[in-house]
Amino acid sequence: MPSNDNDHVLGFLLNKKNPAIVKSEGIYLYDDQGNRIIDASGGAIVCSIGHGVKEIADIVAEQMQRVAFVFRRAFITPELEQAAGKVCELTGGDMDRVFFVSGGSEATETAVKLARKYHIDNGNPAKFRVISRWQSYHGATLGALSWSGFTSRRADFTPYLNDFVHLPATHCYRCWYGESPQSCDLQCAQALEDEILCLGPETVSAYIAEPVSGHSLAAAHPPDEHFTRIREICDKYDVLMILDEVMSGVGRTGK
Ligand SMILES: Cc1ncc(COP(=O)(O)O)c(C=O)c1O
Repeated sequence: MPSNDNDHVLGFLLNKKNPAIVKSEGIYLYDDQGNRIIDASGGAIVCSIGHGVKEIADIVAEQMQRVAFVFRRAFITPELEQAAGKVCELTGGDMDRVFFVSGGSEATETAVKLARKYHIDNGNPAKFRVISRWQSYHGATLGALSWSGFTSRRADFTPYLNDFVHLPATHCYRCWYGESPQSCDLQCAQALEDEILCLGPETVSAYIAEPVSGHSLAAAHPPDEHFTRIREICDKYDVLMILDEVMSGVGRTGK
């Protein structure tokens, strides 16, 4: 039970109350005790432009006053079109449609649902399986956690998770196949084709992976040419390739 009026928030850790932040600016957070804290990671690596950017706050406030919300089943706004166009432009023009969501778990769940719809609409309703990697993280909701390979976050909830296949993690630091970058013949990519053939290509809907790992594998990434081979395998078996850039996108790798 809350012990006073300031104790109603169910915190991340039950036995620890986090500092209350009352102001933020650039790389700094200020708590209610007068401490200035450097937010070296931009929150959960999401606040890449820094805190308290007036230009953004002004535009958001102005938009909130003009149109704060419309339901996407019925309406769009010119600003939504504009933002979608900007995302397509920033991603090099290869992408021509954007579906906005509120977070990473919702993004990967939506991508997996879109893949399933694609197969149904193409007359392949038996395609439903998702293949992913161990030591990956795609979100905390039950669907996203099912294709995540973050064992410590999955542990308590495995009875609720869907039984999808996870392939070994892909990185050269401790190669699962005992290879070095010099001797590598992309067995980590070949594992996907082997698994698709084992499961039956007619049942496999999508492959999901992080191009550069986030939480669970500390920025590790697969060897060169890995994703070129993955692309070929996915195309060969009509398996949709989902790249989860929730952690590495929007310029966070410096590119
Ligand atoms: C690669 C990746 N995908 C998905 C997610 C889930 O994002 P969210 O916490 O916004 O649901 C995360 C969160 O850290 C992530 O790193």
